[in-house]
Amino acid sequence: MLFGTVALLGRSAAAETPAGKPANSARIEIHSDQPAKPISPVLFGIFFEDLSYAADGGLYAELVQNRSFEYSASDSPEWTQTSFWKFSATGGAGGSFVIQDANPLHTNNPHYAVVNCGNAGAGGEVALANNGFDGIAVKSGEAYDFSVFARRRPGEKGPLHVRLEAADGSVLAKAEIPELSADWQKYSATLTPARDEANARLVIAMSTRGAVYLDVVSLFPHKTFKGRPNGLRADLAQAIADLKPKFVRFPGGCLAHGDGVANIYHWKDTIGPVEQRKEAKNIWRYHQTHGLGYFEYFQFCEDIGATPLPIVAAGVSCQNSDYAHGTGQQCIPMEDMPAYIADILDLIEYANGPADSTWGAKRAAAGHPEPFHLKYLGVGNEDAITPGFTERFKMIFDALRQKHPEITVVGTVGPSPAGGDYDRGWKLAKELSIPIVDEHYYQQPNWFLKNTNRYDTYERNKTQVYVGEYASWGNTLRNALAEAVHMTSLERNGDVVHMASYAPLLCKLGQVQWYPDMVYFNNAQVFLTTNYYAQQLFSANGGDAYVPSALTLGREPEKGEAITMSSVRDSASGELIIKLVNLSASATRAAIRIDGAQGIDPEADCVVLTGDVAKTNAGDPRARGNVSADPIKPVASRVKVSPAFDYDAPAFSLTVLRLKTH
Ligand code: AHR
Repeated sequence: MLFGTVALLGRSAAAETPAGKPANSARIEIHSDQPAKPISPVLFGIFFEDLSYAADGGLYAELVQNRSFEYSASDSPEWTQTSFWKFSATGGAGGSFVIQDANPLHTNNPHYAVVNCGNAGAGGEVALANNGFDGIAVKSGEAYDFSVFARRRPGEKGPLHVRLEAADGSVLAKAEIPELSADWQKYSATLTPARDEANARLVIAMSTRGAVYLDVVSLFPHKTFKGRPNGLRADLAQAIADLKPKFVRFPGGCLAHGDGVANIYHWKDTIGPVEQRKEAKNIWRYHQTHGLGYFEYFQFCEDIGATPLPIVAAGVSCQNSDYAHGTGQQCIPMEDMPAYIADILDLIEYANGPADSTWGAKRAAAGHPEPFHLKYLGVGNEDAITPGFTERFKMIFDALRQKHPEITVVGTVGPSPAGGDYDRGWKLAKELSIPIVDEHYYQQPNWFLKNTNRYDTYERNKTQVYVGEYASWGNTLRNALAEAVHMTSLERNGDVVHMASYAPLLCKLGQVQWYPDMVYFNNAQVFLTTNYYAQQLFSANGGDAYVPSALTLGREPEKGEAITMSSVRDSASGELIIKLVNLSASATRAAIRIDGAQGIDPEADCVVLTGDVAKTNAGDPRARGNVSADPIKPVASRVKVSPAFDYDAPAFSLTVLRLKTH
């Protein structure tokens, strides 16, 4: 049986392209009469990590930065609890702005602001302003939900004035909170600006004597993704949904195992009312509010029809903790491991347990009595495979096997596609029969071309692979096509490669901490890379069976060239899906022969991604990017097909053909 062999044709069939380059020729034989190989139905998904302001300031729709006055120098050396807030006293008013922690709103959220107003005459006021994450972008006529927890000293009176202001001080929208009680209470108002403004600020002002105590000052666009409260930025979430990912890995990456044991990501800190969540420093040197927490991640997965794949630390921190270049791994002390393992088991109850179980009840209290159908759990993230790691991984793995055999555990084999950690990780995987392990590789495009056979020789029916992080170094069409070449090999090996996700996913322009990324954004716009479109074409056109096929090329590919294909069947729609990648400066005439199909509809959907191979869609984002006015995007058409037809794949292209067969 053939599952995608490549051979060479005689050279004679080559025609000349207009550019004078010899055209490529290829013969593709698809044997739909032979047994198809079942492949993973969840092959292509996404990797999400709060890196480069992907969550706070990004996907999480909160517009106020440092809303709970919990920023500190441990996040970033120059930050304090007042960072991103500006106090002003105008019109003859006097006053002050200080941070206090006595009688907080919640012990997990210990700091709050106290704004004092004295000597306020007519027209005078004191105010706190926040200009969000590099400005607050608002749209004319859209509603913004303001809320704050506040109190006043007994006996003191007077309203809070809430405004959205442009940079020049002009008022875009305003509301008033008439009185505050002496106990912490939540107050809300709606602000609807009358014009667009890219760089607005939120202002809370008072003009009567006394002090107000403020915490969790929040401003959300009313229109979040699917209208969820405490929800996600609609345009970014939609861009992710449009990828049609089969799974979502969260919360990272290095963020999951953290900068030292004290910074390991604890899912329990991220659920419940936002004012009760425990905030943390972000390993990427900023801050995590945990407003986008485990409930929101699970809900997002459900909203976009993706399987959740949470990653918990394997009882050890990142080996790069404290910038230790691979030697900074810290281990949870053995006496604390039982409690840590109990937390992991509780996570499964939180996701899947009945609504009257201890943790299922917390999910139900958040508005989701039904389970989230968690099936996979990642343990560890590209950890150094040390004795400390191995001992703790085994403890967690044993507990999961014993208590939750229904959960598929995804282990880890270090940060690289080869080497000591990779070898030790795979040895452990075989010893423990770990169902799936996570491989990571960030490489040059040519590495992807050279590694198209990587998984052909992996042992079948044993430990499977999750390619949890991969990318070629860049956002040009060449990079996207090199990744597409690799993805055809992942599909061909979809019996041993269970999942794959490009990384990282999101990056805010002006905050680029990792390059390249799949999607760039600023406060108002989203820029989709060529890599995004290649991912989308694979994830939206996946199958559940690999149809045997053979590719025969007219000439040997030169260095930097590759022509590859894959053929899958989608049982749900009954379609045969052919992907053809032509990473070559010449068009390729492919003679496609399909054996064994009873009948083929005479027209098929065809989508092609092609363009200038050296071009990116977002310039160089590290320099804030020259965003292309004419981005490279897939173009859809209908093409004539039959059991034997010719298809001309443009130079530097990825083509997807969907054929209805009977
Ligand atoms: O994707 C960015 C980072 O790369 C991840 O956090 C980490 O796992 C890897 O080193």
